[in-house]
Amino acid sequence: MTYSKIIGTGSYLPAKRVTNDDLAAQLATKGIETSDEWIVTRSGISARHYAAPDENASDLAVNAARKALEASGLEAEQIDLIIVATSTPDYFGSFPSTACIVQNKLGMRNNSAAFDMGAVCSGFVYAMATADAFIKAGNAKNVLVIGTEVFSRILDFDDRSTCVLFGDGAGAVVLAASEEPGVLAVKLHADGSHGGILCGPANPSNQASNQEFLYMDGPAVFKLAVSVLEKVANEALAHAQMPAGDIDWLIPHQANLRIMTGTAKKLGLPADKMVVTVHEHGNTSAASIPLALDVAMRDGRIKPGHNVMMEGVGGGFTWGAVLARM
Ligand code: ACO
Repeated sequence: MTYSKIIGTGSYLPAKRVTNDDLAAQLATKGIETSDEWIVTRSGISARHYAAPDENASDLAVNAARKALEASGLEAEQIDLIIVATSTPDYFGSFPSTACIVQNKLGMRNNSAAFDMGAVCSGFVYAMATADAFIKAGNAKNVLVIGTEVFSRILDFDDRSTCVLFGDGAGAVVLAASEEPGVLAVKLHADGSHGGILCGPANPSNQASNQEFLYMDGPAVFKLAVSVLEKVANEALAHAQMPAGDIDWLIPHQANLRIMTGTAKKLGLPADKMVVTVHEHGNTSAASIPLALDVAMRDGRIKPGHNVMMEGVGGGFTWGAVLARM
């Protein structure tokens, strides 16, 4: 039986780090009030990173991808599929796709397949599930899965209820065909009836909307997120016939510490089994899970043989989980 296994991870954060105090001072110049205390209490976020003006999603992605490739021991030319999860692609409508731009920037000339995937904050989980299916069907051997975002470009810095929550970054994994168990279960869901509570700027092709920036009804998103995250994790566990107690690490989408700890609690997992990066990264949407995964791989918390539950929830509404043995 062919499995797909994570054989390398990498991540990248832009150099510019913005603390809550920095942001509060910037908003104060426009008469908008916020504070470190409000942001930390409501979300757990203390700082986030913003891309430089000459850095796009593909640039962040390439930096993360290089590190993942190095960790995997593979050359870029050995990759036969690139999937980039992003809601902030370099070009409108992913035309050309960020994945194609990444392929070119990595200097790959092997005509690997490449496409972008849009599921907002669940994008990485959706991309992993797709990569796993390609590998298990025998259609790809080595897949580069990347989550990359420059949400700072779509934020309304006059809206304190959203602009304090998001950051920029990228994370990548190399998923390869393996005879050893790797990805044990994937579960994906969507409910388009909730699309309006969390959405990005309207495209030029959409003449029905003049929305300029990201919009989020925070409390409505919060309520939905809490209800679906425990459920989808349990679905993945049931598929793998694994008790929740066998999860070594929970890596939820890093949007809000209160949602994350609530989910861990519902699964009966102690807080120290959860990887947390939201305090330093903010919500980096599709990049948040692979960023957190890479941090915990590199600091030695995640070890070979560990069971890792990755789960995300985001715009669409979309949600999903990937349970993987490392
Ligand atoms: N600083 C100070 N006060 C603020 C700020 C701010 N930055 N933002 C809002 N407030 C005020 C509001 O105006 C409101 O004031 P009022 O009571 O006088 O009207 C008050 O704080 C409370 O606002 P709420 O929105 O009710 O605050 P809440 O406790 O719900 O926290 C938050 C808001 C952090 C957004 C929370 O709802 C949340 O985390 N939601 C989920 C976000 C999420 O998980 N997103 C994941 C998906 S993201 C994706 O897919 C792209």
